Amino acid sequence: MTDTLIRGRLLSFKRAPQSLTDSDSYLYEHDGGLLVNADGKITAVGDYARVKAAAPEDVVEIDHRPHLILPGFIDTHVHFPQMQVIASYAANLLEWLNTYTFPEECRFVESEHATRIATHFYDEFLRHGTTTAVAYCSVHKTSADAFFAEAIKRNMCMVGGKVMMDRNAPQGLLDTPEMGYDETRAVIEQWHGKGRCHVAITPRFAITSTPEQMSATQALAQEFPDLFIQTHLSENREEIRYTCELYPEAKDYTDIYARYGLLGNKTLLGHAIHLSEREMDVLSETGSIAVHCPTSNLFIGSGLFPLRPLTRREKPVRIAVATDIGGGSSYSMLRTMDEAYKIQQILGERLNPLESFYMMTRGNAEALSMETDIGTLDLGSVSDLVILDAASTPAMKLRMETISTLPEELFLLQTMGDDRAVVETYVAGKAMKNTL
Ligand code: GUN
Ligand code: ZN
Repeated sequence: MTDTLIRGRLLSFKRAPQSLTDSDSYLYEHDGGLLVNADGKITAVGDYARVKAAAPEDVVEIDHRPHLILPGFIDTHVHFPQMQVIASYAANLLEWLNTYTFPEECRFVESEHATRIATHFYDEFLRHGTTTAVAYCSVHKTSADAFFAEAIKRNMCMVGGKVMMDRNAPQGLLDTPEMGYDETRAVIEQWHGKGRCHVAITPRFAITSTPEQMSATQALAQEFPDLFIQTHLSENREEIRYTCELYPEAKDYTDIYARYGLLGNKTLLGHAIHLSEREMDVLSETGSIAVHCPTSNLFIGSGLFPLRPLTRREKPVRIAVATDIGGGSSYSMLRTMDEAYKIQQILGERLNPLESFYMMTRGNAEALSMETDIGTLDLGSVSDLVILDAASTPAMKLRMETISTLPEELFLLQTMGDDRAVVETYVAGKAMKNTL
């Protein structure tokens, strides 16, 4: 197998940008080259002529000029069995779950259905330039099997978990503390570390787990301390009230997860919108990650994620960004960051486009502690890439005529871009989008 030299405008972040003029925070090569070896790893990066000079003679060249080459987008919170839930008309979270989401997830007991949706799931993510996602499967082991089997077929870095839930849902969607424990263990044994797959311990949220099941998740977390843990936290006021009623001994919603040892630097907490200062302190002290799901929070009407109050405090909380399909309304991380921007506008705290593109790539990789593998174009990283065209529609092309800087171009991509702006998506050096 020969090496590949991918040519185009390279953009990769070194750290979180502090302002629109913080050009030290990223690498930008106007005529850049990325050398990828047979294993899909980046072995040289920089000025095209320099990389070309050091490349083997038989290198295969792919020219993406004038388009941008970035690390593939990372989505840190999605629900694989909710592809047919998107665009469901509900007044609030609990109605949305009970009316549409839970009945739909019951269908994933059938492995044929789970396999069919898994194919669509990966197709859709690749179409939108997302190369890694952290997903909830359904309660059924069949859904996790379908999810990971498809990840392996496509050689994608994926995190997923069989949901654990043993109350407050239809019978077809319940396990028991023992079943949840045993089947999660079986999923770990079967899939964790295979290909690029990672298993997450996944209690859905405190409303759908009994204290006995929470103890079972604690046992798993102790036995497998390196695994991710994912759940939902403080998304909606009514949810918070009911949750605290179910766990009266806890100080607040966050304290429920703390009591069961579920917080830590591999814990991803979806939504985390309505937190007290005490809860933010606990998240900060434990290194837990609050996952911002802008399109979902707006679509379900849950609230405005307090990004700056979480990150700009004495004890900052780590954050990540995500689509939350199917509460979210778009698979696109560009659309997601457009909504995040609008939320920040309403809150009176700007979100600059460099920061947005950092968040979708390196920022989310850092939240997963995976930044040496994904989320950058650094040497040794896997070449999961997205190729972007900021003139992909007639309206964008027209606007591009008046754009002269990189931040302006990124802002246009974020404001008007979607899957049409994704020219190609690479997984470990292999072009995937145009083979769909
Ligand atoms: N809380 C518990 N389950 C879910 C879910 O599937 N989606 C959202 N948005 N919130 C949840
Ligand atoms: Zn969710």
